Amino acid sequence: MTETLEIASEREILYDRLADRLETAFNLNRKVVSFQANKEEPIYRWFKYKEGFSSALVKYFLTEYGSKPGKLLDPFAGAGTTLFAGQELGWEAHGVEILPVGVFVMQTREALNKVDFPLLQKTVKSLWNELAQMEKYEQHIHHISITKDAFPDETEVLLNKFLSHCLKIEDTGVQTLLRFAAFSVLEEISYTRKDGQYLRWDYRSKRELNGKPFDKGKIQPFEEALKHKLNQILADLSPNKSATLFDQYPSNGNDHQQIPINIIKGSCLEELPKIEADSFDFILTSPPYCNRYDYTRTYALELIYLGNDKEQITGLRQSMLSCTVENKEKIEYLKHFYASIGKQEIFDEIIGVYEGSAAMTEVNSFLAEFNKLDKLNNKNVPRMVKNYFLEMCFVVYEMARITRSGGYCVMVNDNVRYGGEEIPVDLILSEFAENFGFNINKIFVLPKGKGNSSQQMGNYGRTEIRKCVYLWQKK
Ligand SMILES: C[S@@+](CC[C@H](N)C(=O)[O-])C[C@H]1O[C@@H](n2cnc3c(N)ncnc32)[C@H](O)[C@@H]1O
Repeated sequence: MTETLEIASEREILYDRLADRLETAFNLNRKVVSFQANKEEPIYRWFKYKEGFSSALVKYFLTEYGSKPGKLLDPFAGAGTTLFAGQELGWEAHGVEILPVGVFVMQTREALNKVDFPLLQKTVKSLWNELAQMEKYEQHIHHISITKDAFPDETEVLLNKFLSHCLKIEDTGVQTLLRFAAFSVLEEISYTRKDGQYLRWDYRSKRELNGKPFDKGKIQPFEEALKHKLNQILADLSPNKSATLFDQYPSNGNDHQQIPINIIKGSCLEELPKIEADSFDFILTSPPYCNRYDYTRTYALELIYLGNDKEQITGLRQSMLSCTVENKEKIEYLKHFYASIGKQEIFDEIIGVYEGSAAMTEVNSFLAEFNKLDKLNNKNVPRMVKNYFLEMCFVVYEMARITRSGGYCVMVNDNVRYGGEEIPVDLILSEFAENFGFNINKIFVLPKGKGNSSQQMGNYGRTEIRKCVYLWQKK
């Protein structure tokens, strides 16, 4: 135990310093924060982006802290919860997202505003006939090794026919919605199940599988799954119903004109530095967590369906914020990038803040030590953690730079634990934020969940790690 006490000291000092900002937020339970709370809203219930947070959370913070609608940004926009919830409240919303999956969901949601409903109905009605009559088709899904044989053969043929048919639909709104419908059922019609770090494969697939056979239950035929999804979409969009569904959160009684959202496709590490200083009133975001979750593997089926090839997917994995053990360092790249935009001294300042964090140094050194002692289940965990914080240090700097004085930044993130030691993501990122000109108003801690018996917490876990929503305000 002496060892634990010794290595905990810098984190404890930081904890003691920020302890008065930590506050359990009983109104922000896990369900309100998580994507689950969106399940009654159209589009969110058509495609579940499990990494998303809820519209209710966005609306709560914008209403509680945003004095009046202004400019809103989400640098990790995902499926666009911040953007669309903000838009409903009259904000001018901008989002950066690197994964084509999130970008496609946002684009589809935009297309909804203009969709020709009678034409959509007509197109859906004739769809099955068209597919039955199609003999030749030019579109083919190009698989990568981790998706090969993911679909039963007959499903694969139908998917290809369906994609070929979609290309012929001239109305872009209707085409997008149709493509989106099949996109939303890819997991259900496949032999796979999303499982965080990778896809789990059902024992019925053609693959040679090791380990205990996995039975995912019913694998839906393409026609059944797509019909169900299209019926859901049509029902939600039917002119009578959509008015109430989209309006279920009144916009404070004001009749806001909705400002179109602005989707920036790319990495926020490159896009934020291009934004003018002091130009946003509110940033509301949730970055990837430092937990080895691999978006490019989890969404591999969706990525190939959208036409991404092996090289693009590997490239994406490396360009995303480091949160998997496969991520390589981006620091040399960032150095060149900052030099190329004439901001070499900013680069040095950011590195200085990172290196000046005693808690960060402590985390890096105990992880290196744990590696030597073989206490981590993957030897690249220290590299991932180091780069996660290093890259987030750049993001936090840029967020502080582009927020106007008095503006807010709200961030949802979970702490993590490696080798039994908690890494206080909330405190370390808040320390960076203070250095770059944010005041740490609050770190709201979500109430502890149920069912965290010591047994479930694993060998080391003695306490549940904090899941938080940080509230920072630009001085
Ligand atoms: C926790 S999710 C955010 C979900 C979002 N709040 C929502 O409700 O849909 C984090 C997102 O960050 C994206 N991301 C990862 N690295 C990025 C980068 N360098 N630039 C922009 N987005 C990135 C991921 O693709 C993912 O969609």
